[in-house]
Amino acid sequence: MSIAHRIITWQRQYGRHDLPWQAAINPYRVWVSEIMLQQTQVTTVIPYFQRFMQRFPDLATLAKTPEAEVLNYWSGLGYYRRCKNLHKASQQALALHDGELPCSPSDLLALPGIGQSTAHAILSIAHNQPYAILDGNVKRVLSRVFNIQDPIDSTPTIKQLWSLAQSAMPAHDCRIYTQGMMDLGATICRKQPLCNDCPLQSICQAYAANSQHTLPQKRPRKKPKRRHLYCLCYLDQGQLFLVKRSDQGIWPSLWCPPMLETLDTELRQAADQFLEPFTHQFTHFTLEITAVILHTQPPQLTDGQWFSQTAVMQSAIPAALRKLIVQQSLFCYG
Ligand code: ADE
Ligand code: SF4
Repeated sequence: MSIAHRIITWQRQYGRHDLPWQAAINPYRVWVSEIMLQQTQVTTVIPYFQRFMQRFPDLATLAKTPEAEVLNYWSGLGYYRRCKNLHKASQQALALHDGELPCSPSDLLALPGIGQSTAHAILSIAHNQPYAILDGNVKRVLSRVFNIQDPIDSTPTIKQLWSLAQSAMPAHDCRIYTQGMMDLGATICRKQPLCNDCPLQSICQAYAANSQHTLPQKRPRKKPKRRHLYCLCYLDQGQLFLVKRSDQGIWPSLWCPPMLETLDTELRQAADQFLEPFTHQFTHFTLEITAVILHTQPPQLTDGQWFSQTAVMQSAIPAALRKLIVQQSLFCYG
């Protein structure tokens, strides 16, 4: 029995069927969900997806909304480049493709933020066409089924995995198959695999060799980079001073307290309190943040504004700031 047949049969019975983007399937909804799910877990994405779809029910609505408002609906999801690209791509699709997402792989790939696997997810899920995806879940499943010992992040192995993924892709039930591969990777062929519940067990080469726990292999990683920033929390009468960040760098266009790499003597002396440092994970580095409580007047900054706690929580702010407000009770120092 083929991989595809096993996956399709398994997905019908045991796969996920109640995810919000599986209802009212269209290319736009599949696209938005795939972008949100790229670096973020399903449970985190669900409420964001629902709010986003309520406000931007179709591609034209998204394209015609200013970027700042779209970012509001992404606030807290992280990796804001995804949102900016999504918005830019919606405007390109509106201009070039009559307000629809294109349905050829090359036209999809030409849009910002859409790579091969995302393009293929849209084609297979929304159009039921036989284009294989290759995300982290699928790489893990394939590296085990074919007992691939080489690092899955090396160029030749990625090529090999694409070819295996495309060979396994069926000509029919493409949507169910793609969803099934994702579901199997997420629920059965996880880091700690549940091989006894797996529809691929009898053809899995890693299972036969008992090597599934050591796969997939990755190239040795360089030491994770760490950065540290002071977060200047000016508090006055229950209000926090925030500055709108530039559209470049971390947290583009989000509201955030002024951040500094070093504190001069003047600020050190003005500081009321240093809170316990906490970390926030970015793709290429770990950011350690020390919140500094200040009851002095902030510097004259254009783009600066005072926010109440309620107002901050409803604004486009980084997830790290939410963490600081909620977990370290920032406003109690006001
Ligand atoms: N991760 C990426 N795409 C997904 C999908 N359609 N369903 C569940 N998890 C996913
Ligand atoms: Fe993954 Fe185990 Fe299934 Fe092989 S048998 S695909 S290792 S869950």
